[in-house]
Amino acid sequence: MVRVEFQVNGERRAEDIEDRTLLVEFLRQKCGLTGTHVGCDTTQCGACTVKLNGVAVKSCTVLAAQASGGEVVTVEGLSNGGTLHPVQEAFIQCHGLQCGFCTPGMMMAIEYFLSKRPVSLDDDVIHTALEGNICRCTGYVNIIEAVRRAAYRMYPDLPKHVMAKVAA
Ligand code: FES
Ligand code: FES
Repeated sequence: MVRVEFQVNGERRAEDIEDRTLLVEFLRQKCGLTGTHVGCDTTQCGACTVKLNGVAVKSCTVLAAQASGGEVVTVEGLSNGGTLHPVQEAFIQCHGLQCGFCTPGMMMAIEYFLSKRPVSLDDDVIHTALEGNICRCTGYVNIIEAVRRAAYRMYPDLPKHVMAKVAA
């Protein structure tokens, strides 16, 4: 057993866990944060994406003990009280999901991409940002539109050539 401690969505969580516990298992089983999904368990699908110390990571690939002491944000921590994050709003507006299984990880990866203030929102740039996240339902078109719409909300001052593809 090992003692781990995290700030999870702004709350301190400390638990004794088995050494082999993955971060995703800690979040789902110890914290009850089941918005973080497990799709593959082999670092391919991105459904388990969370932010660890400000960086998007696949939490099925990180041992909880390895990350102890860190600050974790899950999809449950994206909204600010009753106010949805622009990425969440954009998914609603653009209908960026169907079954929703990939959606939490997709939104966390997008939030990380946009948090770095993108210099381009061209298709290939967004494709690269989301290459670690697989969606089996949507065909990605509406997800990519949601990225641009969220960017517009977060950075209304982005240059016109960056925002050129955002629908009015
Ligand atoms: S469950 Fe982590 S990448 Fe698929
Ligand atoms: S919406 Fe179903 S897997 Fe993406």
